Amino acid sequence: METPLIILHISDVLESNGDPVNPVNIMKYLDSFGIGDCEFESALNYLIAERYLTRPDKGVFSLTDSGRDQVSTFSIKDNEDKYNSFMLRLWNSRAYLDFCEDLYGYRWCLLNSLYREQLQYLFNELKISPGDMVLDIGCGSGAIINNLVDRYACRGIGIDFAHDLIAILRKHYSDIAFYDMAIESIHRAPFDADVFISLDSLYFCRNLATTFAGIKSKCRSRMYVFYTQSVEDKNGNRDGLHSDNTDIAKALRLNDFSYSATDFSHDEWNLWKKEKKILDKHRSAFEKEGNLSIWDGRVADTNNMLKEYGDKRAKRFLYRIEV
Ligand SMILES: C[S@@+](CC[C@H](N)C(=O)[O-])C[C@H]1O[C@@H](n2cnc3c(N)ncnc32)[C@H](O)[C@@H]1O
Repeated sequence: METPLIILHISDVLESNGDPVNPVNIMKYLDSFGIGDCEFESALNYLIAERYLTRPDKGVFSLTDSGRDQVSTFSIKDNEDKYNSFMLRLWNSRAYLDFCEDLYGYRWCLLNSLYREQLQYLFNELKISPGDMVLDIGCGSGAIINNLVDRYACRGIGIDFAHDLIAILRKHYSDIAFYDMAIESIHRAPFDADVFISLDSLYFCRNLATTFAGIKSKCRSRMYVFYTQSVEDKNGNRDGLHSDNTDIAKALRLNDFSYSATDFSHDEWNLWKKEKKILDKHRSAFEKEGNLSIWDGRVADTNNMLKEYGDKRAKRFLYRIEV
C-alpha cells in the first residue's frame, strides 16, 4: 500500500475510535512502517491537495467523503481474490478433507497450524461463558467457530474476505452470523463481541497496529491469537522471535493491550513433521480430483517450514490478550 493510503487508513481508524487525527497520533502507527518525516509530510500534502483530508483545524485533520470512499475500497484486492478462489477449492475438495482428518484428527476443512495441544486448549480452556458473543476473524471454513458455539454454548460470528465461501457458510451454519469483510475494516463492523479469536489469519493484514486499534473498539473482553513469526536470516539476528518482539507483540504494545504468550513452537514443528510423513499417501487423491496444485502447495509449505524450524528462524505463540 502506498504511504498516502496508509495515512488515510490510519486517519479513518483514529476517527472511528474518537481519537484526534493529528500528526502525533498518525506517526504513532506509521513508525511500524519505517516511513520517514519527509515522506510523511509530502503524503499529507498530497492527501490535502487531492481533498481526501481537510486542511488541519487546530492541528486536527478530518477525512472528507471522498477520503472515506477511498479507504473503504482500499486495495486488499489481490489477497482477497487469491484467498477467495483458494478457500472455495479447499471447501469443495474431498481429498483435502481426508488430508485434514489425517493431519489434525478432525474431519474439518482447516487451514492452520494447530496441533493437538492447541486445539485442546481452544476447545477446553478458553474463558468463554454461555451466551458470550465470540468472533472468529479470518474464520475460513467456519469449522472452529461452529465447534466453539457447540462446546461453550456461546453465540458466534465469523468474518473473512473469502466472499464466495462466506455465502456458502451462511446457508451451511444458520445459527452463526457470517460477514464478508476484511479484518482491516473491523472498526467499521456493525457488531461487537466479548471474545475474539484469530487462528493464523493475521499474516496478510496491511497494518497490524491499526487493525488492533480497530479490534480494541469492538472487543469487550479478551482475544486469543495463534501466530507464527519468522525472521530473515540476516546477521543471524533472532531478536524478532522473542514473544515480546514479534509483529503481534509490537502492535499490541502500540495499543496498550496487556498480554501473555505461550510458546507452541515445538507443537507446530511436530505438526509439520507429521504433515511431511503423511503427504505422499494423499497425492493420488488430489491428482484424481484435478487438485494436485493444492497438494504441491502443501509440500512447498511443509518443506519451507521444516527448514525455518530447523534453522531456528520461526516461533509460534498463542497470545492471550486482555482488552
Ligand atoms: C490460513 S487461513 C486460516 C483459516 C481458519 N482460521 C482456520 O483456522 O482454518 C487464513 C484465513 O484468513 C482469511 N484472511 C486473510 N487475510 C484476511 C483479511 N485481510 N481480511 C479478511 N480475511 C482474511 C483468509 O481468507 C483465510 O480464510
